[in-house]
Amino acid sequence: MNDATGLFPIHPDYERVASDVRFDHATDLQLEQPAKHWTLADLGYPASVRDRFPSEVAVTAPFRILSPVGTAKLQRVVRTLREAPVGRSVDKPAASGTMIRGTVHRSSYIRDLIGSALLRDHMRKTTDVAVQPTCLSHELGHLNIPPTDAAQPAVRWHCDTNAVVLVVNVFDTSDLDGGEFQFFDGPRAEGRALLAAGMEIPEERIVTPGMTEAGWGVLLQGAAVLHRASSLRTPGERVTMASAFDPVDATFPDPNRFYPLGGVPDSERSIEIDAQFFELARYSARRSEYLLGRYLRDAEWSTDPSTIADDLARCVADVTEALDILRRGGISRSAAQALREEKDAELFDV
Ligand SMILES: [Fe+2]
Repeated sequence: MNDATGLFPIHPDYERVASDVRFDHATDLQLEQPAKHWTLADLGYPASVRDRFPSEVAVTAPFRILSPVGTAKLQRVVRTLREAPVGRSVDKPAASGTMIRGTVHRSSYIRDLIGSALLRDHMRKTTDVAVQPTCLSHELGHLNIPPTDAAQPAVRWHCDTNAVVLVVNVFDTSDLDGGEFQFFDGPRAEGRALLAAGMEIPEERIVTPGMTEAGWGVLLQGAAVLHRASSLRTPGERVTMASAFDPVDATFPDPNRFYPLGGVPDSERSIEIDAQFFELARYSARRSEYLLGRYLRDAEWSTDPSTIADDLARCVADVTEALDILRRGGISRSAAQALREEKDAELFDV
């Protein structure tokens, strides 16, 4: 049932770790349904915005994903990754903690777990939408490790730039003070406006669903949910593993905002930075492949060349945009920001 092979070619430059830890869905998964979930409507999104998302589910309550056996295996892999030399990979030094990326290239365990068809089927039942691990392989299995400074949130308030995100709690954190997954009980623009004005999110608008058990996780349509991990006030082992999944149906607006930057100086380059162009190519190819397949199956006869051209252009819009970025060798920070704002407005404006 492990069929991740083929989703992305394994990057040859990463050091492999813990290759003796093998994923076995029969012993490692213990998939349970969340006791509840919050819908986009619960967060205050109007129907005109909700209709642009493939699922009504905004964020689930925590649910069990891994058995004790699977949890112990993942913990071993994560500890090994944390200590492994990174070579040209970047343990992205976020101001609010550390992020280890590229884990699906380094660990066959994480690759096979995320690629598990059983996990994918479970996610479909939970969100009512068929998903697949994103072709942006660096958005799979990345590990968030909180800062040692207890004044900093473990992960700052943010929205994801992917469609469906699975966050797995790797270690038991029930004895720790803080470090909990939390989300804003409202539309993202409202929460962001508070933060932009230098205000705190009011306590009564913060939901803490209680993801403290190891091997448990949440699913969220992360672009629509402002979320964070609270400050870790006691030292302890807290790691979350986040993975992006895309709806198989590529007709929904794409919340991904991945735009490779051009002219990155050599001192800032890494495997992840250098991989961006190929990642974008594969990601856009997957979306256009779906839309072209649908066109071949479902398009109706027309005699109007401009209508036909428009329909065809919509199918290849992602590839067309990717080609433009690739031929320019990446785009500037300001151009990427302008694109993000333009597409966020299309997705969230009422
Ligand atoms: Fe996130």
